[in-house]
Amino acid sequence: DTRASGKLALVAQAGNSNFLGGKSVQTAGYSQGYLGPTVIMQNGELATGVGNTLGEPVSVHWHGMKISGDNDGGPHQPVLPGEVWKPDMLINQAPATIWYHSHIHERTAQQVYNGLAGVIHVTDGRDDDRGLPSAYGIDDLTLVLQDRSFDSNGRMVYEPSMMDRMHGFHGNRMLVNGQSGTVAAVPSGVVRLRLLNGSNARIYSLFFNDERPMHLVATDGGFLPQPIALDMLQLAPGERAEILVDFAGAGTPVLMSDPGQAYGILDFAIDETLPARITSLPDKIGDPLEELTGLDTKTRTISLDMGMGMMMGSGGFAINGQPFDMDRIDFNVALGSVERWIIRSSMVAHPFHVHGVQFRVLSENGAPPRPENSGWKDTVLVPGETEILARFEHPASKKNPFMLHCHILEHEDAGMMAQFTVS
Ligand code: C2O
Ligand code: CU
Ligand code: CU
Repeated sequence: DTRASGKLALVAQAGNSNFLGGKSVQTAGYSQGYLGPTVIMQNGELATGVGNTLGEPVSVHWHGMKISGDNDGGPHQPVLPGEVWKPDMLINQAPATIWYHSHIHERTAQQVYNGLAGVIHVTDGRDDDRGLPSAYGIDDLTLVLQDRSFDSNGRMVYEPSMMDRMHGFHGNRMLVNGQSGTVAAVPSGVVRLRLLNGSNARIYSLFFNDERPMHLVATDGGFLPQPIALDMLQLAPGERAEILVDFAGAGTPVLMSDPGQAYGILDFAIDETLPARITSLPDKIGDPLEELTGLDTKTRTISLDMGMGMMMGSGGFAINGQPFDMDRIDFNVALGSVERWIIRSSMVAHPFHVHGVQFRVLSENGAPPRPENSGWKDTVLVPGETEILARFEHPASKKNPFMLHCHILEHEDAGMMAQFTVS
């Protein structure tokens, strides 16, 4: 784990990982053997260097960062083996938990699965004033949730079948921060969990075995005005949520998923020797959320298509009827404008993601958004029809356009992606 500010160097490298004991398997990471460091940064100029010692092109896309297309790290900005990519960007956004991952077209699912992903905390150093836990690794834990598939020798494997390509690849075991079966020690007080769904396709419905409430304090793009108590938290691939959990008292809390067929994600051990810095929940956290309603100048409809062709193994994954094409710009958005997008899912709920912005959810199937979608978002699970509002503040050129896509990585790689310029 590393902390950085001002300058950040990441090198994509191979690793040998042994997740369950037994034989190790080749993985990849940024500056380590699996995943990348959690980077803690403040607003300001950030010079990055991304190297690549792997034998294939990779990239580093800053998922959730409000920066221009030229720094975005998407499919048009591969770092070839042996080369270094040097973006220089101005970070200027609200505190949030964001992430980074490789984004090479048709290789994203495999590369992220192998480990090319990491977390960034954008902070303003004022969490103490907000009454939020902020002691990194003590009462402020970063948890990357990933399901992975293991064979009978305990080796991690990625061999998607036709069904997996259709529904996205689901693993048979949970990893949290690249580890299986570890226990998180927490103080007997309020703890902040920064959750990232870094899975290729699995959607979590998180809850605690002892019905302990979770208090949602931040969505993808930053803080909510006040905590929202939840019994269950839904987290789709690509989404982040920050929750506060009160671990005061005894017990053996377990973070679980899917009430119907419940399985454990992470066990917690309450450790009285750890300092409990925060013992009561804050009642106010962030500023009121800025309203974008009424500022929109244009409405766009975006359909996330899964067609019959897909069943026969010949594509069928598309956006507005067209599979992704690196050489086709799908549309342009006027720089500085607010647009209303109506997103429609076909066949299954797709997690929809846009680069370069944080947006607000106006409605989900005609109803007001669920608490998980009530703040700033860059990724939203679209069960049927979801309406969003976004202000496009950062330019993206034809050379380095922004992507919009399904964050089920097998769907994205199969063509459920489009690209747009902002000028
Ligand atoms: Cu998290 Cu276009 O990606
Ligand atoms: Cu992104
Ligand atoms: Cu999808």
